[in-house]
Amino acid sequence: MLNLQKARLRVLVIAAMASLHPAMNVLANAGNANEAQQSQSANSGQFQETISSSKDIFDFDFFKSKVEPIFLKQRPGHARCYACHSDPNRVFHLERLSDGVKEWTEEQSRRNFLTITRLVAPGDPLSSLLLIHPLAPEAGGDAFHSGGRQFETQNDPDWLTIADWVRGAHTASHRKSKSGSFIYVTNSAGATVDVVDPSSNSVVQVIRGIELPHGVNFSPDSSRVYISDESESALDVIDRERGEIIKKIALSGHPNNLTITKDGRRVLVGIRTLPGAVDVVDTSSLALAKTIPINRSIHNIYVTPDGKYAVAGSIESKSATVMDLQTEQVAWEVKFDNGVRPMAFDTNPDGSTKHIFVQLSNLNGFAVVDFAKHVEVARVKFPDQPGGYGDAEVRFNTPSHGIGVAPNGKSLWVGSTIANAVFEYSLPDLKLDGYCLLPNVYPPNHAPTGSVPEWITFTPDSSVVYISNSAAASVSAIDARTRKLTAVIPVGEVPKRMNTLILP
Ligand code: HEC
Repeated sequence: MLNLQKARLRVLVIAAMASLHPAMNVLANAGNANEAQQSQSANSGQFQETISSSKDIFDFDFFKSKVEPIFLKQRPGHARCYACHSDPNRVFHLERLSDGVKEWTEEQSRRNFLTITRLVAPGDPLSSLLLIHPLAPEAGGDAFHSGGRQFETQNDPDWLTIADWVRGAHTASHRKSKSGSFIYVTNSAGATVDVVDPSSNSVVQVIRGIELPHGVNFSPDSSRVYISDESESALDVIDRERGEIIKKIALSGHPNNLTITKDGRRVLVGIRTLPGAVDVVDTSSLALAKTIPINRSIHNIYVTPDGKYAVAGSIESKSATVMDLQTEQVAWEVKFDNGVRPMAFDTNPDGSTKHIFVQLSNLNGFAVVDFAKHVEVARVKFPDQPGGYGDAEVRFNTPSHGIGVAPNGKSLWVGSTIANAVFEYSLPDLKLDGYCLLPNVYPPNHAPTGSVPEWITFTPDSSVVYISNSAAASVSAIDARTRKLTAVIPVGEVPKRMNTLILP
């Protein structure tokens, strides 16, 4: 709370100074970025190296086409922002429109943009005066605004549009990323999916309209995004460039995670409701093609790296079921002493699957299954230190969630809630190479907690590891070579599953 107030005060003071001294612009924004930098490194314990700056995240086109019209809009029950804020004395000052003209010229918009970027904290709507001052106090806004409670809640669509801009949304979100990829983050307690550009480590697109999004995957040509939708028991199909839902396909039951065949023709969705199944959606007809009974509630599901098998995990049945994708029949199964959580795979030199690395309930580590022999051959436990987390978060039954083999096949990365860290093991020898601590979370009136890591994904070149911090509403970016935290990217509520889209 204290931090938030400080941040707001700072934006206000800088804004006030900047309005007197136009030359302070640059300084004001640089100041904000530094502050974000400092608080992030303070949160990341001993890993205080360079945190990438996010000062260049504001997109002018998004501002002109989506944010500015809100200031001119007659919103029911409210005077227009423009009515009061075209007064030259306002800190939040809007250019005067010429008589009879309904929108700002390019040059005026540029001036509005300059003024307004001083009233916002990059990536952080709730530390941004522009969003806090006109927001109702009950919804987290300031106590009093002479212009009234312009936004009743943080769910007001106009408020959300401005917040998206502050968090770095770009109009041309489909533009190429320098990294050749985007990281998709499903906010499991929200109704949004955030798209992070690894070249700026900021959110460049927000997909809306999916309450309780679970798993996310892509068509091989990257034109479509598939998201399992827990609240509507559907598979939602999204046009990637526009970020809009084009179809909701009803599933046979409540879905959890999903995967896609290498040829992109079938999306496989794990069905959690009993009797438990894998739903197969045909991507050309966009219809449910069949429901394969597994007789176990299915949580996470994967296609093996060689594309030949699907592996479906069950928490309740403590098992991993392997399906032959040619026959779409169950081939074999492994049983465990605890519920099966996320999984990852390494490969033999010929590309066939060598091991399944399986996270289990109540295990602060992972199990190793020999794929050819169909049996568990080892169990790896994390060291006791770092440790000490998980009690306040009530996560002892899921001590470790989130596991991934880097695309180059050289390392296995595994998250631990108990350690509030991610561990790196080299492959194929499974030697522990080290770890990276994750940020602490400071809930008001509570002892600090860990960030409860949930999922892991990578840039295609294996240089950056992304971890979703479900308790911190953020995603950590870690340099894979140095194992240092390089950025903490704010995202939506309880981010969990992530996936990397590789641009064609
Ligand atoms: C009825 C007049 C009025 C309207 C309409 C109005 N405001 Fe304000 N606003 C003010 C005044 C006056 C202040 C000065 C501080 C205060 O008294 O709250 C202010 C302050 C602010 C500030 C703090 C920076 C500053 O200029 O002091 C922000 C940000 C802000 N308003 C945003 C908005 C937004 C966004 C809208 C439209 C959605 C809006 N206001 C609509 C009158 C208005």
